[in-house]
Amino acid sequence: MVDLTRKLKRAAQLLRDPEERRVYFGQRQAVRRPLDSAWIEVSAVCNLDCITCPRQEGITPEPLKLMPMETYHKVADAIFPYIRNVNFIGLGESLMHPQIDQIISHAKSKFVGVNMTSNGTIMTDKIAHKLIDSGLDSIAFSIDGGTKETFESIRVNARFDKVQRNIRRLIEAKKALNVQRPWIAMGMVLMKTNVRELSDVVRLCHELEIPTLNAENVFTWNEEMERTLPLYNGINPEEKEAIEKAKQTAAELGINLELPGFILKEPGPCSYRPHEHFVVTWEGNLRPCCNLFHPYEYVFQGQKKFAHEATMGNLLEEDFLSIWNKPDYTAFRKANETGIGLPEVCRDCLFSRGL
Ligand SMILES: C[S@@+](CC[C@H](N)C(=O)[O-])C[C@H]1O[C@@H](n2cnc3c(N)ncnc32)[C@H](O)[C@@H]1O
Ligand code: SF4
Ligand code: SF4
Repeated sequence: MVDLTRKLKRAAQLLRDPEERRVYFGQRQAVRRPLDSAWIEVSAVCNLDCITCPRQEGITPEPLKLMPMETYHKVADAIFPYIRNVNFIGLGESLMHPQIDQIISHAKSKFVGVNMTSNGTIMTDKIAHKLIDSGLDSIAFSIDGGTKETFESIRVNARFDKVQRNIRRLIEAKKALNVQRPWIAMGMVLMKTNVRELSDVVRLCHELEIPTLNAENVFTWNEEMERTLPLYNGINPEEKEAIEKAKQTAAELGINLELPGFILKEPGPCSYRPHEHFVVTWEGNLRPCCNLFHPYEYVFQGQKKFAHEATMGNLLEEDFLSIWNKPDYTAFRKANETGIGLPEVCRDCLFSRGL
């Protein structure tokens, strides 16, 4: 009876209020969109110079700039009818886009779940409030060390204390406004050089009341990186112990520690799931996955290679479905869904190797 009264009240409200109707039917329609998500590179410029990043000179030959608003709107109009979520991420720092709050608000007005990944270096009270007001659903901050020394040696030009202060600023703004969103998570590129600090990062998450730490393996661009950084080329007992200790600390503190695999398997289906996701560069180029955001030089199992530009179409020139249904793109997705007939760049990629 209580349920029926509630339903009748809701129906009356929808009949009365056109805005309520727009939101209600917009949300119902949005959950039926066929694809999970897209990553949009609103900014390919950055204020940091992380030693792991493919922005490093010579790795990618493409120009890296901010996405113009006109491009953003064309891309949004083309793809939002097909996706349920968007992540504003690319080869840069999204908070460097001067209209990032307008971009987020626009995406939210189209009933898309909005997430972003940030280096945490840019966060005034004003920006924190703008992010909250824009309706951002979640933000992941990248922290590659649990001490000032390690963090600053990897995330070059960032300051460990300042990034923590900035994250706290967003947390305080959420508390002041008594809101749940944006949900905050932490990300860490886990390597031989920082794995002993994994427990420290878990503790930092606990201190900051961040419930999830998502650790990922490192992609390598040159011989030096491949020789010195990845854990998947062989973990020593000390590194193993550091990981076990971090798991224990996470369990004790109630932190959800998401760890990647550490054993390189034979190539198989891609865990990025390019049949449900795709990426769009700042120029509106649709490419199949985060690993092919830009062409780049890489080193895999001692061999130097080049990941060629993988544009499937440009959204300023072609509509989404014509791009999505191209035979080459369809075959690429099929290969990655099944793990059969993978191109070389996929066979060399951590996401097809159980990592
Ligand atoms: C390219 S950044 C862009 C977003 C933002 N600038 C940041 O750093 O969070 C996206 C993510 O890639 C991670 N990353 C950087 N270099 C990497 C590498 N060689 N292998 C794996 N992930 C890497 C960063 O730590 C970050 O979490
Ligand atoms: S902050 Fe992000 S985009 Fe910038 S250099 Fe570091 S990893 Fe690359
Ligand atoms: S396996 Fe292929 S499709 Fe999957 S993330 Fe890697 S390069 Fe992209």
